[in-house]
Amino acid sequence: MNAQELIDTAKKLVASDKGLLAMDESTPTCNKRFAKVGIPQTEEMRRTYRELIITTPGLNESISGAILSDETIHQQKKDGTPFVEVIAASGIMPGIKVDAGAKDMAGHPEEKITEGLDGLRERLLEYVQLGARFAKWRAVIVIGDSIPSRGCIEANAQALARYAGLCQEAGLVPVVEPEVLMDGGHTLERCFQVTEEVLHTVFDQLYRQRVMLEGVLLKPNMVLPGLSCPKQETVDEVADATVICLLRAVPAAVPGITFLSGGQSSELASARLNAMNGSLKSRLPWALSFSFARAIQQPALDIWQGDEANVLAAQQALYHRAKCNKAARRGEYNAAMEQS
Ligand code: G3H
Repeated sequence: MNAQELIDTAKKLVASDKGLLAMDESTPTCNKRFAKVGIPQTEEMRRTYRELIITTPGLNESISGAILSDETIHQQKKDGTPFVEVIAASGIMPGIKVDAGAKDMAGHPEEKITEGLDGLRERLLEYVQLGARFAKWRAVIVIGDSIPSRGCIEANAQALARYAGLCQEAGLVPVVEPEVLMDGGHTLERCFQVTEEVLHTVFDQLYRQRVMLEGVLLKPNMVLPGLSCPKQETVDEVADATVICLLRAVPAAVPGITFLSGGQSSELASARLNAMNGSLKSRLPWALSFSFARAIQQPALDIWQGDEANVLAAQQALYHRAKCNKAARRGEYNAAMEQS
């Protein structure tokens, strides 16, 4: 492990107000999103869609790194150029999702544990050879009447920390993603309490596994009320709660926090990120950035619909969302940007 290289890569991923584009949906998840808009669920359509994304003109103005899936990192453009080459040539760092998915956790009804540690050391070496510079592992925490349990939080936090240690050993910056899901009727206060506990546990485990925090990025949820909670707080209230929670739980040594969008609308995700980077910015020891999948891609996917004739318009939509989120990192996003 070259510590300085890890630190430089992590800093670069959050530099210049840019953020990450998560395009690492597993095959079943990508197919589910295709099915919703009537796109055929074939490997060739997934390849074509990913080619549309990575060849979007000007994407590198707002995006510093793109997270790929195992399928995508092995794919090529129609003309045979490997995706990784296309991405790197545009000045975007290629990253790779390395977990094997969140599975039902034994003895813990309704809870999930993320798998994928077996053989991870060897897989990471292969990804490094393919050109990956950073990696991602997602843990899923569900809020319910009597969950999450300590057992679930601790098992997921330990897996995240072991993954992060292996990444740093291989020279990859680990993006550590403990996602507290938005599903359910829970309040913002409950999400705050669970997110704080999860983050404290994750950082305790990162410490125990001797992970160098300066070479890590955290990818958390924002602190939000559940999707079906009758009380939905304002943008500023969400921004306040999220920043307070992060200030309590995330060490200042971490260079950057790159939020997931988690099912928020594209506009709300940008507006909330913007609010955190506005009047609260002077209180932040880390860069507050984005690593959105749906909140960047969804409008483009809706426009594309699998039709070659819509590629340009879809790319413009993708470019626009990336640009809105770059503006949100500066606290300069506003509703008028959505009209332009
Ligand atoms: O693991 C989840 C993705 O990296 C982020 O996806 O922004 O749609 O929640 P999302």
